Amino acid sequence: CGIVGYLGYREAYPIIIEGLKRLEYRGYDSAGIALFDGNDLKISKTKGKVSDLENQSAKEITQNGNLGIGHTRWATHGVPNDVNSHPHASNSGDLAIIHNGIIENYDALKKELISRGYTFQSDTDTEVLINLIEDVKKKENVKLGKAVQIALNQVVGAYAIAVFDKTKPGEVVIARLGSPLAVGIGEDEFFIASDASPFIEYTKNAIYLEDEEMAIIRLGKEIKIRKIKDDSLVAPYIQELQLNLEQIEKGGYEHFMLKEIHEQPKAIRDTYRGRLLSDEAIIKMAGVEDNMKTFLNANRIIIIACGTSWHAGLVAEYIFEEFARIPVEVEYASEFRYRNPVINENDVVIAISQSGETADTLAAIKLAKSRGAFVFGVCNVVGSSIARETHAGAYTHAGPEIGVASTKAFTTQITVLTLIALRLARAKGTMSSSDFRLYLRELELIPQKVEQLLNVDDHVKDIARQYLLSPNCLYLGRGYNFPVALEGALKLKEISYIHAEGYPAAEMKHGPIALIDDRMPVIVIATSKGHYEKVVSNIQEIKSRKGKIIAVVTQGDTAVKEIADHVIEIPESEEAFSPLLTTIPLQLLSYHIAVMRNCNVDQPRNLAKSVTVE
Ligand code: G6P
Repeated sequence: CGIVGYLGYREAYPIIIEGLKRLEYRGYDSAGIALFDGNDLKISKTKGKVSDLENQSAKEITQNGNLGIGHTRWATHGVPNDVNSHPHASNSGDLAIIHNGIIENYDALKKELISRGYTFQSDTDTEVLINLIEDVKKKENVKLGKAVQIALNQVVGAYAIAVFDKTKPGEVVIARLGSPLAVGIGEDEFFIASDASPFIEYTKNAIYLEDEEMAIIRLGKEIKIRKIKDDSLVAPYIQELQLNLEQIEKGGYEHFMLKEIHEQPKAIRDTYRGRLLSDEAIIKMAGVEDNMKTFLNANRIIIIACGTSWHAGLVAEYIFEEFARIPVEVEYASEFRYRNPVINENDVVIAISQSGETADTLAAIKLAKSRGAFVFGVCNVVGSSIARETHAGAYTHAGPEIGVASTKAFTTQITVLTLIALRLARAKGTMSSSDFRLYLRELELIPQKVEQLLNVDDHVKDIARQYLLSPNCLYLGRGYNFPVALEGALKLKEISYIHAEGYPAAEMKHGPIALIDDRMPVIVIATSKGHYEKVVSNIQEIKSRKGKIIAVVTQGDTAVKEIADHVIEIPESEEAFSPLLTTIPLQLLSYHIAVMRNCNVDQPRNLAKSVTVE
């Protein structure tokens, strides 16, 4: 979920609506706003997107006032409908809350409140929390900040919340545990949001709350930050934001996803800039250098991640083992954290996360740390929770990724992981200095190859047109390109809702081959250096079952061209770097199919970009 709040002298409504649109990547099942219009608390909320909220609120409320909070929701408790949408008001109608997260013990708290006469309109845990705060406030006769603190100490779960009291309209109380929360500090005004994008044009000064912290924000006063547990004061640390407005706008593209696909040459270059110094034949990464001993002494590397980041981890497994000869295991964070893994101080964990906020990945990191492992983070969002929770790390520098389907984050994750593998390979001596030089030069050529490859767009669009009604799709690859097949399939199902599966090409004969008939498109990655002959045999097997073959091949290929229905050519490169290229046409294919199927490419149904619940 995404939350936004404003307290100051401007009209809060447009700031909150525009802010919610920027945060819609965090969830878009429903949206709502609570405003204090100078006299009363006005709430408007609805199932659907922020644009639906705009229509709805125009009918329901006056849309004015200098204090307000808004929410865009990814449903956890309660189906996405109007009453379950946020904000929620307390029984007295004085307090309003927005909440991102889950209150796990809400049922017990709710029963207790019902027994004391409280009533509930919705099925949400959030409405329980706001009434708990109200109950504490009345019972203990304390101010709002204190009441929030006492209530939160009774709560089990995760949250980022903002609360205000219409009888005290110069104040907003916020708190965080597990979900991010930033405060933008202007002159005589404050902005509250899940990330800094909603207030970037108003102020560059921001405070990020840490877990277990709450803040009392009052007009005309300094912000007060306290630890929720023991009430101790924390000195506010004001950061200067690097983000600018242009980075979070579409810049002439029809969708963020398309913009982000096209940004990949720059994003990959930005990722290795200043780290890969080919003239001197060195790779410089502070986080790796500072911990070189730990890396070199590691028994193994365990990579933990979710979704697309997990696929980047799988590519890295091949690269690390090939270059640096270090055993690698790749784990879904959600599985790792709940299966009592064997892990100790001899293990190095690499956690990969675009957002740096994924709840399962964060929990897996905490578990690995508690067992003594060294944890290295690969994140895109600077200052994110995972970036702060890890012992060291390297940012991907892809710039903000807004389309829910991950594209440039994936290729830049692979780039960072490749740099690490190369650096370790040199330090360990598992790669000769001449090979090392060669790889550095090859890696530097990747951005321009991606640039060139983006010209296949029209060709891919033609292919997309022919398969947009297919109910199923199979993706096959081997070696470095097996994870790319998984990622290609994930992209297609995420945004076009076509069922798709990725498989190692050779595994096809153990199951998926049964699905192949003349209506089944099979996308096969058959690069010239990647077990080429074996893949060609796999393609023959598909052909003899009448499957439709869309092959991704290296320029100059002849054999596959003869048998495939369509070929998409990629520039030649080292096989270890080929995922950075083969991924591109697969991103474009799913993009065009989704657009032609009239799907919402940037905000596919049921998904969210940043999943801060487990
Ligand atoms: C969500 C997103 C995916 C992403 C995954 C992991 O499911 O929709 O695109 O790959 O989370 O996110 P992270 O931010 O940790 O990379």
